Amino acid sequence: MSGSSASAAGLRGFSGGGCRYSLLTIIIWTVVGFFLVVHLVSLYSRKDNNIHDDVSSSDQLQVVHQHQHQHLHLHHPVVHQLVRVEEEILRMPPPRKRSPRTSKRRSRKPIPLVEEFLDDKSPIRHLFFPGLKTAAFGPTKDMGNETSYYFPGKIWMDTEGNPIQAHGGGILLDEKSNTYYWYGEYKDGPTYHAHKRGPARVDIIGVGCYSSKDLWTWKNEGIVLGAEETNKTHDLHKSNVLERPKVIYSEKTQKYVMWMHIDDANYTKASVGVAISDNPTGPFEYLYSKRPHGFDSRDMTVFKDDDGVAYLIYSSEVNSVLHIGPLTEDYLDVTPVMKRVMVGQHREAPSIFKHQKVYYMVTSWCTGWAPNEALAHAAESIMGPWEKLGNPCIGGNKVFRLTTFFAQSTYVIPLPGVPGAFIFMADRWNPADLRDSRYVWLPLVIGGPADQPLEYNFGFPMWSRVSIYWHSKWRLP
Ligand SMILES: *[C@@H]1O[C@H](CO)[C@@H](O)[C@H](O)[C@H]1NC(C)=O
Ligand SMILES: *[C@@H]1O[C@H](CO)[C@@H](O)[C@H](O)[C@H]1NC(C)=O
Ligand SMILES: *[C@@H]1O[C@H](CO)[C@@H](O)[C@H](O)[C@H]1NC(C)=O
Repeated sequence: MSGSSASAAGLRGFSGGGCRYSLLTIIIWTVVGFFLVVHLVSLYSRKDNNIHDDVSSSDQLQVVHQHQHQHLHLHHPVVHQLVRVEEEILRMPPPRKRSPRTSKRRSRKPIPLVEEFLDDKSPIRHLFFPGLKTAAFGPTKDMGNETSYYFPGKIWMDTEGNPIQAHGGGILLDEKSNTYYWYGEYKDGPTYHAHKRGPARVDIIGVGCYSSKDLWTWKNEGIVLGAEETNKTHDLHKSNVLERPKVIYSEKTQKYVMWMHIDDANYTKASVGVAISDNPTGPFEYLYSKRPHGFDSRDMTVFKDDDGVAYLIYSSEVNSVLHIGPLTEDYLDVTPVMKRVMVGQHREAPSIFKHQKVYYMVTSWCTGWAPNEALAHAAESIMGPWEKLGNPCIGGNKVFRLTTFFAQSTYVIPLPGVPGAFIFMADRWNPADLRDSRYVWLPLVIGGPADQPLEYNFGFPMWSRVSIYWHSKWRLP
């Protein structure tokens, strides 16, 4: 509005033609021109930073090189591979008629590629869920020079040649044995709907545990917390829900403590459960469940800080707010301290990590089993305020970046030997057959300026960018 009236005044100045006005006119046009240039420059730089928008790959490379300059330790040749931007072209099939059932179920039309992803009859399903014969990887396969490569989305075999069952999982590095333990939902059963319009589910089987020294070769340690077969009032009765188990070790009590989301088939119980064991490989003894701080709690994780204080982070208030609070010293309960963060942002699937005294969190939005856009946040105190950094996903293609590579965050661990680099762990859920959900592990790097204009920093880029790089295959340095 003000711009157009200024130029109208300028035009009047010219047509009036009087010498008296010409100096004023020049000044006005200079000022207008200056603001135009400033505006264009700011537009240009915003476009350059918005990697998740549709920009050409050369723009992306530019941004990424910028990041690399700030990361001297990334000059290691293998690390350099991790931060290379990898494009992925998915050919869409021609439009086709859908069954009335599928079209009715979706009132809000998702991106066509997401629709293909959710349709278990899609002709391009193999792109999201490649089959066992062609696309399995692991220590039992003869992989030649691709041994120890991760293939995000392909079927990952354990040391016995069975697909790994550890969904919604987390990793514990056991310092006593220098061994990694991967805990997750063991879902190796049929998927069905408990009742009409209920969510797709698998009966609780229990928490699976796998051990590894190298984060690639995983040995099945069995079910370390099993379902309850007969007692219908028990939290772990197979008709209920057990999700996102995470294990931390208490130096104080020398116990391994498992926290998990406990629910009924309708997701109305919305509680956390706690179990305990003397050994990382169990058996875990189930202690109890509760609504932490008296609130509903669904997707959750636990984070153990350097100082030994552990925190519970959970989606609450019908998934609209994240709650964060410290655990008691024995890690068996929450304390009365709790902060509401990311209020009204509807984030779930939280995963927390820390680098140089700054806390980072990657979360998803809430769209059930359908994949959506991830967001990274940063904070100087884990209790907040948490500042939004934007979508961390880089590479693949636009839909990949808008769907977290068709996956949902679950955990982030430091990438051994490379400060500032992490492994981002996510689940590519397969609601038609949940046991066949895939793992998307990718390198995550902290560095470079954040994308988004930030709320609390008065225009100064205080935080680094969190970047998750797509690779169809990659390996640890
Ligand atoms: C493995 O070897 C094959 C054949 O020599 C080569 O084409 C391929 O690029 C190699 N893969 C890796 C990951 O080095
Ligand atoms: C069934 O589980 C409930 C809740 O854990 C418990 O209170 C009850 O004693 C159990 N019943 C039997 C028969 O074990
Ligand atoms: C879930 O809701 C359905 C329909 O409202 C009901 O029939 C069923 O009993 C509920 N199940 C549980 C476990 O609450």
